[in-house]
Amino acid sequence: MERLPKYDCHCHILPGLDDGAQTMEDSLYLAGRLAAYGFERAVCTSHSSFLFRNTPSTVIPACERLQEELDRAGIPLKLIPSLEYRLIPETWPQIRRNEWLLPWEGNHILVELPISHPEKLMDIDPAAEIRQLIADGYQPVLAHPERYEWATKDYYKKLFDAGAAFQRNLGSIEGFYGPGPAERALWLLQEGFYSFLGTDMHNRKYADRFDKILL
Ligand SMILES: [Fe+2]
Repeated sequence: MERLPKYDCHCHILPGLDDGAQTMEDSLYLAGRLAAYGFERAVCTSHSSFLFRNTPSTVIPACERLQEELDRAGIPLKLIPSLEYRLIPETWPQIRRNEWLLPWEGNHILVELPISHPEKLMDIDPAAEIRQLIADGYQPVLAHPERYEWATKDYYKKLFDAGAAFQRNLGSIEGFYGPGPAERALWLLQEGFYSFLGTDMHNRKYADRFDKILL
C-alpha cells in the first residue's frame, strides 16, 4: 500500500470554486475521506485557469468557511489555502502582475501545464517561468507531470533541471488516468523525479477509487 505524506498538497475540495466539490455537502464528504486516509492537512489548490479565475480573494474566505464546517462536524483536517496555477497566457501574466501567488509553507506554488495541446502555452516557456519563480523566492511544484500527454523524457529533464519539484497524483501508477500516465508515472518514479504526492481530489469518483487502494 502507498505510504502517504502527512498532508495532501493538491486537492479541489472547496465548494463551488472550480470543477471540484460543488456544494458544502460534497466538500465535507471529500474532506472526511482525506482525513480517513490519514492526512492531517490539505492544501486547497482550486484552479486558477482560463475557466476558473480564482485568486487569493476567492480561496481564502472559502477555506475559512469550510474549516468552520469541518471543525463543527469534528473532521480532523486542517485546511491551507492555495491555488493551482495554469501556465497559460490568458491568466499567468495577470497573476504575476497582480501578485496573486498564494504559496503554501511559505514558498510552494503548484503550477500546471496543459494536459494535451501544448500549443496552448503559446509564448509561455515553462522552464523560464520556473527559473523566474525560483529567482523570486518560490519553489514551483509541477502538478501531475505524468498526465501531460505530449511531454517527452527530455522535456521532463528540462523542467526538473530548471528547478521544478514534481508532484505525482495518487492513483496514477494504478491506472486511474489510463495506461499512458501510468507508464510515465512509473518512469518518473524510478528516475527519482517525484518529491510530492497529492490526491488531486475533485469528486466522489476520486474518493471511491482512493478508498479501494487505501482502505
Ligand atoms: Fe488539480
